[in-house]
Amino acid sequence: MRTDTPQPIRLADYRPPAFLVDEVNLTFDLQPNATRVKARMQVRRNGDHAEALRFNGERLKPISVAIDGRTLGEAERTIDGEFLVIPDAPDAFVLETEVEIDPENNKALDGLYMSGGRFCTQCEAEGFRKITFWPDRPDVLSRFTVRIEADKAFRHLLSNGNLVQSGDLPGGRRFAVWNDPFPKPCYLFALVGGELDVLEDKLVTMTGRTVDLRIYVDPGMAPRAAYAMDALKRSMTWDEEAFGREYDLDLFMIVAVRDFNFGAMENKGLNIFNSSLLLADPATATDMDFERIESVVAHEYFHNWTGDRITCRDWFQLCLKEGLTVFRDQSFSADMRGHAVQRIKDVKALRARQFAEDQGPLAHPVRPSSYLKIDNFYTATIYEKGAEVIRMLKTLIGPDAFRAGMDLYFERWDGHATTVEEFIRCFAEASGRDLTDFFAWYEQAGTPKVTLASRYDEAARALHLELTQATPPTPGQPTKRPLPIPVTVGLLDQDGRTQAFERDGKAIDETVIVLDGASAKITLTGVDRPPVVSALRGFSAPVRLESDAEPKDRYVLLAGDPDLFNRWEAGQELARALILARAEGRPDEVGEERYAEAVGRALSDQAAEPAFKALLLALPSEPDLALAMRPADPGAIHEAREALRERLAVHLQHELRRLHTGLQDLGEFSPDAAGAGRRALRNAALELLAANPRSEIAEVAAGHYAAAANMTDAMGGLNALMLIGGEPFEQGLTDFYERWKSEPLVIDKWFAVQARDPSETALGRVIGLTAHPAFDAKNPNRLRALVSTFANFNPARFHDPSGAGYRFLADQILAVDRYNPMIAARLIDALGGWRRYTPELGALMKAELQRIVSTEGLSKNVFELASRALA
Ligand code: ARG
Ligand code: ZN
Repeated sequence: MRTDTPQPIRLADYRPPAFLVDEVNLTFDLQPNATRVKARMQVRRNGDHAEALRFNGERLKPISVAIDGRTLGEAERTIDGEFLVIPDAPDAFVLETEVEIDPENNKALDGLYMSGGRFCTQCEAEGFRKITFWPDRPDVLSRFTVRIEADKAFRHLLSNGNLVQSGDLPGGRRFAVWNDPFPKPCYLFALVGGELDVLEDKLVTMTGRTVDLRIYVDPGMAPRAAYAMDALKRSMTWDEEAFGREYDLDLFMIVAVRDFNFGAMENKGLNIFNSSLLLADPATATDMDFERIESVVAHEYFHNWTGDRITCRDWFQLCLKEGLTVFRDQSFSADMRGHAVQRIKDVKALRARQFAEDQGPLAHPVRPSSYLKIDNFYTATIYEKGAEVIRMLKTLIGPDAFRAGMDLYFERWDGHATTVEEFIRCFAEASGRDLTDFFAWYEQAGTPKVTLASRYDEAARALHLELTQATPPTPGQPTKRPLPIPVTVGLLDQDGRTQAFERDGKAIDETVIVLDGASAKITLTGVDRPPVVSALRGFSAPVRLESDAEPKDRYVLLAGDPDLFNRWEAGQELARALILARAEGRPDEVGEERYAEAVGRALSDQAAEPAFKALLLALPSEPDLALAMRPADPGAIHEAREALRERLAVHLQHELRRLHTGLQDLGEFSPDAAGAGRRALRNAALELLAANPRSEIAEVAAGHYAAAANMTDAMGGLNALMLIGGEPFEQGLTDFYERWKSEPLVIDKWFAVQARDPSETALGRVIGLTAHPAFDAKNPNRLRALVSTFANFNPARFHDPSGAGYRFLADQILAVDRYNPMIAARLIDALGGWRRYTPELGALMKAELQRIVSTEGLSKNVFELASRALA
């Protein structure tokens, strides 16, 4: 048990910084075990007060502290493990400090550390305090000049901004000096030093400036950066066209590193990426990798305006940059890859992660009001729900007012650190709308449930709709108020044709109903035939919709809703109901057959894109189903879902085989949406075929794997073999490992496919794999591939009735927490939902959480999440 109870930080306690740093010169003498960092800062008292100067500093070995050239004695300053305090600082002065740090032994991967023999940094949110003494908060903006010195072996010495000078030094050393003309908070600082290869390109911006683009990667890997470079150029041009935002430096750099706690980081002019989100070629990366690379490259680039030039006043405002930037990258991906398919994928991810978060003890608002460790708040709620809130804002005020509000925001806040209130104020002004009620979306946690009842009055040709909303309580928020919810509605007739109607006297095909109270009654007129209601089109709000629609209505929507999101959704709802009925012991065999037939018809629809059909073929995931079952029984869900998969596989075997043969890639591989869509459908067909318990399927899967000309198909084949199991899977695994053992990113996939294996023996195998020579728990990608994949994507085995799956996870959390608290804390999520499961399982999960919190020497990160999960 922790003896010191950590004190939460509260939004309500925000106060402006007591001291500002306008200008800083940093000098790094890079040595793996003893790097010296000198800082020369122009410091200024902020406002009329007599407070002491208190700068953050953790894991720093202080060498000296001087003010205006005079070294301070021990009595003039104090240094404890967390702060440098100078009681009697002047109002404006030069502060010079020198510290020593040990990058090589920094396995928390936060601050300055080493990855693959190279120096690199990660400072968001609070890593800069592990590099030098600093007011480590996002509302202190400073101009940085950085001098780096190192042994010649570290050939590339990089930091933010423009290269001012570089050259050789005596003793086989080199130096480089960088200057960033844009004032920035320290969390956007970056430094890289090492031997790297570079891929170079150029882009001409909308005003005709030429920007140099460089992607730095491990030696020999430059060709694998080509796709990221292409995605970068498309992102830069898209931001000019969609938001009028031009890049502002003459150089833009990205560096890929193998050891990285998250996806990527938007440091000004020098983005640092997890190599798994940057390196790709057809042989080693799947289409899903290409797709993620495209969206993360865009995301980090878009941060240049939404994050770097305009940043957050404090970390409670994290969604100001993250939710907005996710919204921007989702819009970009939709333009690149098709709006409907992108929307479906985004909503699947939202439901899987954010809805689950909202239903558990870790639920929190898009803008939280207190935290222990801000690193614990880089969540699906802040990112994905944060993006949904902005999407609703655009729906509510319309695209023109939305763009005008964004323009006003950029104009008003460029160069500043600001708040969500100020952001929303820009849209209120641009649209002339009162957005006071809308703001509740930022402050209220939980997923609203919207119910829809409809009644058709044939004589009056009127459709009466009654909508209500209710949000279940979440921790700390027992009562909820109504939110303004945009519900996009269209009508079909019983034959699946679009049916026009009237609202306020105007004939239309679609309308947005804003439900802004607890309930609302709306009448649509001019409805000539009995309608089928297509509600919440495009998933117009992040809510759970319960409508009184009958299965027959959903079949109409599945066959012909022009809103492709709702066409897909109708299929999911039908499947969900069938699987849950079976899991609860009342299988509906007739309904299952009918569903299989409808999916067969949808597959033969010539007009539908392959990527869309691939999504139609996939049943709701087991975690998604678990959210809909109370209490959740993961074993029963798995069995029931497999039963429906088998029925589909048998019923559709000829269509599936036809798709599988007919969609083979002919000619050259292209990672574009069309090529990826065909491969997705072909692999989805194979995955479903694998549910047909007949031996020749193993041959088809083995043949698919053996003939694969790219990683997408190789993984499609290996995945199918995993589902079939037995000797063919073992052979595939051995072959795969031998072929790819020198490619870490590919071997991550090898670990992950075994972690997803739902068969009885999988847990033993996963535990065994932690002793495999290629397993390295200090590398976050490898750890996630095995442990996080198992805990989050293999519910049937993770929730083993013996509790062994939970025990395995808790052991991993405790082991990793000793050196990397951020990564350890992220694993807690999987235990957080314990109240939603059967009492037997819930008790076992809870016991592991209790074992975690009662462990000596726990990090704040893990302590915060584990204790909140128990509360
Ligand atoms: N800002 C980064 C992004 O683009 C993520 C940083 C994550 N930091 C953390 N402490 N979790 O999304
Ligand atoms: Zn981001």
